[in-house]
Amino acid sequence: MCGIIGYVGHRDALPILLDGLRRLEYRGYDSAGVAVLEDGQIVVRKAAGKLARLAELTQRAPVHGQVGIGHTRWATHGVPTDENAHPHTDCTGDIVVIHNGIIENFLPLRERLQDHGHHFRSDTDTEVIAHLIEEAYARLPETPERMETAVRQAIAQTTGAYAIVVLAREHPDRIVAVRQISPLIVGRGRGETLLASDVPALLPHTREVMIIEDGEMAILTPERVTITDLSGTPRHRPVQHITWDAEMAEKGGYPHFMLKEIHEQPRALSDTIMGRLDVEGRVELEGVQAPAEFVTALDKVWMTACGTAYHAALVGRWLIEHLARIPAEVDLASEFRYRDPLVAGTTWAIAISQSGETADTLAAAREARRRGSRLLAITNVVGSTLAREADDLLYIRAGPEIAVASSKAYLTMLAAQIMLAIDLGQRRGTAAPELLTDLIHGLRALPGKVQAALALEESVAALARRYRDVEHLFFIGRGLDYPVAMEGSLKLKEISYVHSEALAAGELKHGTLALVTPGVPVFALVTQGHVYEKTVSNIQEVKARGAEVVAVAYEDDRSISRHVDQVIRIPRVHDLLAPVVAIVPLQLFAYHVARERGHDIDQPRNLAKSVTVE
Ligand code: M6R
Repeated sequence: MCGIIGYVGHRDALPILLDGLRRLEYRGYDSAGVAVLEDGQIVVRKAAGKLARLAELTQRAPVHGQVGIGHTRWATHGVPTDENAHPHTDCTGDIVVIHNGIIENFLPLRERLQDHGHHFRSDTDTEVIAHLIEEAYARLPETPERMETAVRQAIAQTTGAYAIVVLAREHPDRIVAVRQISPLIVGRGRGETLLASDVPALLPHTREVMIIEDGEMAILTPERVTITDLSGTPRHRPVQHITWDAEMAEKGGYPHFMLKEIHEQPRALSDTIMGRLDVEGRVELEGVQAPAEFVTALDKVWMTACGTAYHAALVGRWLIEHLARIPAEVDLASEFRYRDPLVAGTTWAIAISQSGETADTLAAAREARRRGSRLLAITNVVGSTLAREADDLLYIRAGPEIAVASSKAYLTMLAAQIMLAIDLGQRRGTAAPELLTDLIHGLRALPGKVQAALALEESVAALARRYRDVEHLFFIGRGLDYPVAMEGSLKLKEISYVHSEALAAGELKHGTLALVTPGVPVFALVTQGHVYEKTVSNIQEVKARGAEVVAVAYEDDRSISRHVDQVIRIPRVHDLLAPVVAIVPLQLFAYHVARERGHDIDQPRNLAKSVTVE
């Protein structure tokens, strides 16, 4: 999510840090900052907004030194402000930290530290790390290893995902970094060492890199890189030579951002879930403040969104009705305000938007509020207009999504809504506890299931080669498979420009079946046990007209292959969680068809990432 750069060597650090941050700009960010050791003091410069603001600030108030760290922030805790920008310091200003990831248990840590007299200046989870290191430093004797030991002791108290980089006034010759899930790469130069979250920031200086693994610490000095595990035991790491050009490096070695983002989905899902399922199996959604009386008295949930977010809302509606037993309806945001809708004070309005800036979604959300509804925003961008205007907030934490075609935002919108539906089911007492327990276990396992679904890429790419020249194609499904069919169809249209249509499988015979002729491909989703036989009947209808049917079914479904031409086998999950996994091969299919057809996948024709006009 965030961008990280660090330098220790013989050159002036600031220009290297700013250039590194510029090379990480493509990732998206909302604020930036640097810290440099100047004449034995740590000097921090940081600003909300684009890098130009930071560059201006450092021009007006330059800072010189040969050791420094820099950061571009994509907000997850606390809106983008100067104070919330990284780096963050401890109470004394002698320790400074940058961080990529999420500290799950930051709230109890922060409360304890405040009780012990620590003064916090930001709303971030990151700042607790600086204060924890400060505390550990105070306990330790003055030894050459004091900094590493203090960082280790601090980290041992945290849970979550992180890449953390630390500077300390007492040890001006080094940078200490720790990795747990979030990426960190060290680069070796002559008499200098660098570190970054991504390769592009290192390329102007070196192509000799070492990858820091989960649960490892790296200690960087100008001449040396020491890698250890978190108990201090040294780890050997071979140096790798990077052959990527700058463009490939930005995409993490993938040919397109879309493919990179599809592959980032397991991690994005972990981030969405992180810190929100407590040990007792309850859901804790920090920004959802709706009081118990409101939740109990609710007579309707009304949801609105556009495009992919709309498809996610269709899944959410199903889950909320099923688990919380509240009537739920979904409106396309562009239609809602023109139909004199019935929403009022006992309705919970939910607007879903990756960007939080989509004009139609904002207008619909405002209309719902004008009519007296409480508004919950489910969004990716912290501090976006939708987030600012909502009463309740549920961030999906997908990280920056750059490709126009949405992938990881969709999956994380689904995960956020599953948690919301479980929470409502628990609070209203409307869902069987065993079902909720199953879903919570299933939710925790989802990143791994999605990872397994990504392994289907090669066979899906073969399918894409087979169908690259078709004129049109259908996606069918029932129940929760239907919104997945809609999303699969949208993905295909938007990047491959192949006409496709999604249909509730039972609707075929009411008209569209006339278009099914010999050889027309039909993708049939068959993950929903309670309508399995019905969908199989619909498959037989299209087979009888000569369609070539590709099923998306569970890996242990032994009977489906009798009815179809090919099966894409996805990992078994609870049927209510199936949309999260079943969409993955369809995303990959759309991507590979578009690639076969030679399209501009990340910037498809006529489309924009954020649609800020009606
Ligand atoms: O930022 P939003 O989630 O509000 O965007 C809504 C749609 O414009 C968006 O999902 C669009 O459909 C995607 N490009 C589809 O991949």
